[in-house]
Amino acid sequence: MKKRLFSGIQPSGEIHIGNYLGALKNWVSLMAEFESIYCVVDYHALTSLEQPQGFRARILNTAAMLMAVGIDPSKCTLFVQSDVPEHTELCWILSTVIHIGHLERMIQFKEKAKQHEDNINVGLFTYPVLQTADIVLYKAETVPVGEDQIQHIELAREIVRRFNTKFAPVFPEPQERVTRAARILGLDGKAKMSKSLGNTIGLTDTPDMIQNKLKIAVTDINRKRRSDPGDPSICNLFTLHNHFSPAAEVGCIASDCRSAAIGCIDCKKKLANNMIQELAPFRDNYLSFLARPDRVRDALRQGALHCRAIAQKTLDEVKTAVGMK
Ligand code: AQP
Repeated sequence: MKKRLFSGIQPSGEIHIGNYLGALKNWVSLMAEFESIYCVVDYHALTSLEQPQGFRARILNTAAMLMAVGIDPSKCTLFVQSDVPEHTELCWILSTVIHIGHLERMIQFKEKAKQHEDNINVGLFTYPVLQTADIVLYKAETVPVGEDQIQHIELAREIVRRFNTKFAPVFPEPQERVTRAARILGLDGKAKMSKSLGNTIGLTDTPDMIQNKLKIAVTDINRKRRSDPGDPSICNLFTLHNHFSPAAEVGCIASDCRSAAIGCIDCKKKLANNMIQELAPFRDNYLSFLARPDRVRDALRQGALHCRAIAQKTLDEVKTAVGMK
């Protein structure tokens, strides 16, 4: 029997190459090895929602984008979090075994609180508890994530241990599975690439948009003139070459950059070409799913049905364990 895996993505904006390299690419390859459950986590996105207009469409578009990059509902389960109400029910029960101090240590909470000083809502604070519920509701043992989520998975293990010790051994401890692209930086070369920071290359960006964004992207900041040798090890775009360009080309770019045989403009052009080539099929698939949204809706409906059956069974066990049943 295959082990079960769970992961989710927020419908909080346009999916970008950071999401793709840090998570989605891995999701696609893991479908064969695991019984995979993938979720559009709309309750999580609510913690940073500015206005309701467009939210519903974004939820569907996020699912369409997942299918466009290769998440195949005949090989995995794809659903929307709010279609399975057991997520929030379990979240409440789990929130009673973890202390405020644990949540106060979460780096993402501190960063988001700084980013949204006018909206430090309780949902933002308890986000990792809902995330734990998302995972353990399916007793998933593996969680493919980017580096930013490792601390949350550690907390999920702490919650599981506390629950299992206090009540009954209901849940396995989940383990993160991180890719070699665990943290892709934004085009500024400083902050993590993030939907909410606007420093992204989107998976649906047109070739023109990709070229224009790369033109102004930050490279090795010490390289002032074309004739200066560059240092690929501190260049964010070289990191992207490692993910989008063929290995032989990456080797040449590194040595040509070090010897100043090529400048940043040439290097960016090569990266743009390779990136455009890899992303083009995703954009085409995405547009074709948007033209036939019924295919996406059907997949989500089937996914929710499958997940509800598992979720109800787990929640029954949980309620028995805590003495409610
Ligand atoms: N820059 C990144 N590098 C590597 N992995 C990343 N992920 C996100 N950004 C990067 C991974 O993508 C998965 C889905 O992320 P999410 O949408 O649920 O939440 P997030 O990490 O908060 O993504 P964003 O883009 O930063 O969204 P906003 O701005 O809305 O908060 C996760 O596995 C994540 O690790």
